[in-house]
Amino acid sequence: MTEEQICEKLQQVLKPGRYRHTLGVADTAERMATVWHVSPAQARLAGLLHDCGKEAGDALSHGPIGARLACTDYGVTDEEILSAIACHTTGKPHMSTLDKIIFIADYIEPGRDQAPHLDELRKLAYEDLDLTLLKILKDTLDYLKASGKEIDTRSLDTYHYYLHKHNSEN
Ligand SMILES: [Fe+2]
Ligand SMILES: [Fe+2]
Repeated sequence: MTEEQICEKLQQVLKPGRYRHTLGVADTAERMATVWHVSPAQARLAGLLHDCGKEAGDALSHGPIGARLACTDYGVTDEEILSAIACHTTGKPHMSTLDKIIFIADYIEPGRDQAPHLDELRKLAYEDLDLTLLKILKDTLDYLKASGKEIDTRSLDTYHYYLHKHNSEN
């Protein structure tokens, strides 16, 4: 499918706000990719499709569901793209650079305005990928704790993995 065909299909399945968010993530991921030596086209496609399972799954499951839909409904066979879509909500230990870019772009794209530290994170995303990831995971876990929401083990595993990595490298 061409990008135009993908966008047409996404516009049919996503709510307008979600579609706008998707374009923001695609632009941000593409820009980050040039700095972090990942294929910009690959990052853009992963960004466009990262939420394609949004209406088919819940907050956590739409990642893995989206990866399956990206393959079956959008013809994506690139395992690196499918991985980035699958883990974009929780992260995972040992993320690839593309995984990290999509996770971070999802959080910092220009349409986001609620999360704390966005100015700092939007700068840091071009300087230190792991530290950006760690700060987003911490803010997310802090938010879930403060609002009494359930914390999934996958996000916790990811946080502890990158905290340990950061501490052992610094
Ligand atoms: Fe998502
Ligand atoms: Fe998203």
